[in-house]
Amino acid sequence: MRIALFSTKPYDRQFFEQANERSQHELTFFEPRLTAETCALAQGFPAVCAFVNDVLDAHVLEQLFAQGTRQIALRSAGFNNVDLAAAQRLGLSVVRVPAYSPYAVAEFAVGLILTLNRKIHRAYNRVREGNFSLEGLLGFDLNGRTVGIVGTGQIGAVVAKIMAGFGCTLLGFDVHPNPDCVALGMQYVSMDELFLSADIISLHCPLTPDTRYLINQQSIQQMRQGVMIINTSRGAVVDTRAVIEGLKSGRIGSLGLDVYEEEVDYFFEDHSAELIADDVLARLLTFPNVIVSSHQAFFTREALEAIARTTLQNLTDLEQTGQSKNQVHKAK
Ligand code: NAI
Repeated sequence: MRIALFSTKPYDRQFFEQANERSQHELTFFEPRLTAETCALAQGFPAVCAFVNDVLDAHVLEQLFAQGTRQIALRSAGFNNVDLAAAQRLGLSVVRVPAYSPYAVAEFAVGLILTLNRKIHRAYNRVREGNFSLEGLLGFDLNGRTVGIVGTGQIGAVVAKIMAGFGCTLLGFDVHPNPDCVALGMQYVSMDELFLSADIISLHCPLTPDTRYLINQQSIQQMRQGVMIINTSRGAVVDTRAVIEGLKSGRIGSLGLDVYEEEVDYFFEDHSAELIADDVLARLLTFPNVIVSSHQAFFTREALEAIARTTLQNLTDLEQTGQSKNQVHKAK
């Protein structure tokens, strides 16, 4: 099948070409993001492969359909950037990679927890300047602390397992509790109770209308003084302006964001020679107790191999049978 891959970087090309040795699709790599302005590049391609910040709204899907595209293959787990109702109406198949490496994302989330708590990012810079003082680097034992995990699917469950290994008490909130987490000793509680009791809150739910701005001014007010918040799910699960106020008041003790609601303008690209015009992002970057990373939690060799393999297999399945087990359907 002829596949147009958007938002591609050299590493995408490397892993997709490697995986394609078995699949034998015809791959064309485009560097630009998929948007209304760039979708003409996919003219005549039956399949389009898109990433997290590509635009797949009704307008783009209609344009792709008119140009001959029938399959949309997301090389991500999340699918919040696709207008599924429009895809269904047009008869476009949408497939995704529901699981590639939950370990990649979970381990990164735990990395943020450890770094923020023990201030390793500050220590790294400090000693390089010849400052060997410990002032301001005081952390706390994770052992015995309460970790609240919102969304206990594949990634959340791995975070739970790692944090159980540190001796943490586990609280969970999920619309579908996970028996594996219960077996680890996790107690499922209401969202309010989780916010009230957790020392560390880690977000692993998808972005949906229900989870948009789950972390907001009101929920932050419920939280423990000095709470740590980690978001490796999707940016808009957190109201960034509200967390900035929470950081300024001290309610939020530290914040790790691998995703940001306006990340589309900055993430995955080198903007080091420019000024940051986004004042919210710029403010976030001034806090010593905030770490922002550029949506890199998924970025391990194992994950990229699995993403490429599964994406191409999804398209092979659609081509050969008209179906894929990884098809995404609009919720009824
Ligand atoms: P999953 O589908 O296995 O788990 C998501 C869990 O969230 C499910 O248990 C589901 O029941 C729960 N959930 C759904 N709605 C909820 C709500 N309103 N409140 C609480 N829980 C709710 O997904 P997985 O693989 O664990 O990924 C989770 C999210 O992580 C993805 O949706 C994606 O947005 C994000 N992600 C981020 C990456 C990164 O590089 N930063 C990479 C991969 C995924």
